Amino acid sequence: MKKIVFVLLLPVLALQVSAQSLKDVFAKDFLMGVSLSGRNVRNVAEQDLIRKEFNSVTCENAMKPASLHPSPNVWRWEEADRIANFCRENGIKMRGHCLVWHNQFSDWMLYDENGNFVDKEVFYARLKDHIQTVMNRYKDVIYAWDVVNEAMSDGGTNPYRESKLYQLCGDEFIAKAFQFAREADPKAVLFYNDYNECDRRKSRNIYNMVLKMRSNGVPIDGIGMQGHYNIYGPTEKEVDDALNLYKTVVKHIHVTELDIRVNAEMGGQLRFSREGAAVTDSVKQHLADQYARVFNVFRKHKDVVDCVTFWNLGDRDSWLGAANYPLPFDSEYKPKLAYEYIKDMKPAKWAMPDKPKPDPNRQRQQRRGGFGGFGPQKPPFKPELAFPEMPGIKEDFVPSEMNQPGQQYPQVNSQGYARFRVEAPEAQEVVVSLGLGGQGGTKLKKTYDGSWVGTTAGPMDEGFHYYHLTVDGGTLNDPGTNNYYGSTRWESGIEIPAHDRDFYAMKNVPHGFVQQVLFWSESTKQCRRAFVYTPPSYGKNAKERFPVLYLQHGWGEDETAWSNQGHANLIMDNLIAEGKVKPFIIVMTYGMTNEIQFGGLGGFTAEGFEKVLVDELVPYIDSHFMTKADKWNRAMAGLSMGGMETKTITLRRPEVFGSYGLLSGGQYEPADIKDKKQVKLIFQSCGSKEQPDRIKQSTENLKAAGFNAHGYISEGTAHEFLTWRRSLYQMAQLLFK
Ligand code: XIL
Repeated sequence: MKKIVFVLLLPVLALQVSAQSLKDVFAKDFLMGVSLSGRNVRNVAEQDLIRKEFNSVTCENAMKPASLHPSPNVWRWEEADRIANFCRENGIKMRGHCLVWHNQFSDWMLYDENGNFVDKEVFYARLKDHIQTVMNRYKDVIYAWDVVNEAMSDGGTNPYRESKLYQLCGDEFIAKAFQFAREADPKAVLFYNDYNECDRRKSRNIYNMVLKMRSNGVPIDGIGMQGHYNIYGPTEKEVDDALNLYKTVVKHIHVTELDIRVNAEMGGQLRFSREGAAVTDSVKQHLADQYARVFNVFRKHKDVVDCVTFWNLGDRDSWLGAANYPLPFDSEYKPKLAYEYIKDMKPAKWAMPDKPKPDPNRQRQQRRGGFGGFGPQKPPFKPELAFPEMPGIKEDFVPSEMNQPGQQYPQVNSQGYARFRVEAPEAQEVVVSLGLGGQGGTKLKKTYDGSWVGTTAGPMDEGFHYYHLTVDGGTLNDPGTNNYYGSTRWESGIEIPAHDRDFYAMKNVPHGFVQQVLFWSESTKQCRRAFVYTPPSYGKNAKERFPVLYLQHGWGEDETAWSNQGHANLIMDNLIAEGKVKPFIIVMTYGMTNEIQFGGLGGFTAEGFEKVLVDELVPYIDSHFMTKADKWNRAMAGLSMGGMETKTITLRRPEVFGSYGLLSGGQYEPADIKDKKQVKLIFQSCGSKEQPDRIKQSTENLKAAGFNAHGYISEGTAHEFLTWRRSLYQMAQLLFK
């Protein structure tokens, strides 16, 4: 008899288990919620599912300010009312979402008819009216409100998100919103809601803000953890840590927007790819496991967690796109393995998978702006929001001429300020190496659209500057600019238009050629490269021969520097067009300066380079170009370390070069030069910010000793390319005369 009873009972039990729903299983722990659109509550099958599984509902969009209150005195209640009425009819409680948010907000509240910020008191009056109207309408059915959504930043130095709300009010708008909400409905439980809430840094910032507000009497009752997770994180410990932290400052915690992506993105930013992953059995298992983990932690904290809400009913509704497979119900509202794991409180079966390495194809697509066709788009960048006016700074910024085609940043203004904008939405810190002496560059600030912006603290010197970015400690180039070979690598560059820029401007004049020459170097057993400038008249007359200037770059640079950032060819073309110089050839090759550490010049003899230059390149040039192949028609000059090479090599090989030029590269003293007749011209220069007295003094000494010496000081510039462009301009007019 006993046996029979047992057999009969089994199927009944099984039925009971499957008849149980999420809300029943967790009845003693917390409410089970779901976010809905008006469409969900119009569909009978979906209504059944909602009624069966859930006892708390949030409007996905219908109660956001932009939906309800798109302009002053315009209220659109229809969709919100439809969802609220469904809940009223079915005895389902509602969470209100949301009253203040930087997205989907009634932006008109912040601005006057001319688009300027209103006085914050005007904004508060509008906000109060909004909050009270909305809360009063749904008082009977809404038990909790997300009063303020996402006011904390995702990185950068400011813990607060620098939204328009923050720009107008600082953090006071948070306090005001909670006060207005409390006044409207003293019984509603009032939440601060945010995403990435298990991130160690952000959770600290959320905690500190709530603590500060509560100590000032601001009625924040609870913290909403959005819970936009993925199968790679957060870990149970991270969720547990966040809950432990939050419960020290509030009595109520709601998981407000739970979903779990199968790609590696996370958070509530309205900017993401809609790509998911192929839904294999292992992906299904990982999803189930991650749901199991987080529910395990939520249950552990059931003393404070009083509601867990899924963000959308089934995958077909998900804001993340169905390919992300994020919910317990699939696109046909069928329960997944994840649903079973949640409901049966199963432990995770496998360990958490390792986060996949970023897929370069996807990144490429993202760079091209490929963020899902239909999904929420990134807000358009508005410079007036990102760069509030600064006293004394003229708002006449234009893209730097060194930018890549179409790139709007970096920019420069007529006073010489430089302005940067870098897209790095996940970064914590972005610094531009360029700034003002000793201040360690310009720290950028994260702005409302996730990009980082900043303006130099003062005007920069005229001319060209190398720079780079430091993003979270890593050195990177600014993708806005072309690259210039600078500190032993290709670096970003920016050009502050110089008042005398005409002499290197690209003009409608005859242009010479800069050609790449590959020559075999026996001493280094390799093919080496030089760039050779030939003037516009070169080759026009088959017999005409030209003098040659061997022109060296500085440390960290290479043979590309003089024509790329130095504009040596344009300087020559312009001078020739104006009849100010006798046309000559310029040869620019790599001076092997980067093989020694900067500063370690003690043992630098330039002997290797001397061989390449004098014994290999000079003969090559003389046999391949129409040169005047004698010492008096051959000059050598160099900037910075290229100047040091020039000095050493010209003194060691007086038979090869007849004129010498040192540009910010030291100076000759009369005693250095054995035979006065060995040199026709000595040119020495530097910027006025580079101890010009030494150049002036040594030039005087050389002149006094009977040398044909010329000194030149570039006004207002330092050890940078404008000094050297100007120096070449001066020197070229003196050479080979
Ligand atoms: C999302 C909705 O799901 C989308 O339909 C809408 O286009 C954008 O907003 N954090 C929040 C929610 O607080 O309001 C967001 O909802 C998702 C991120």
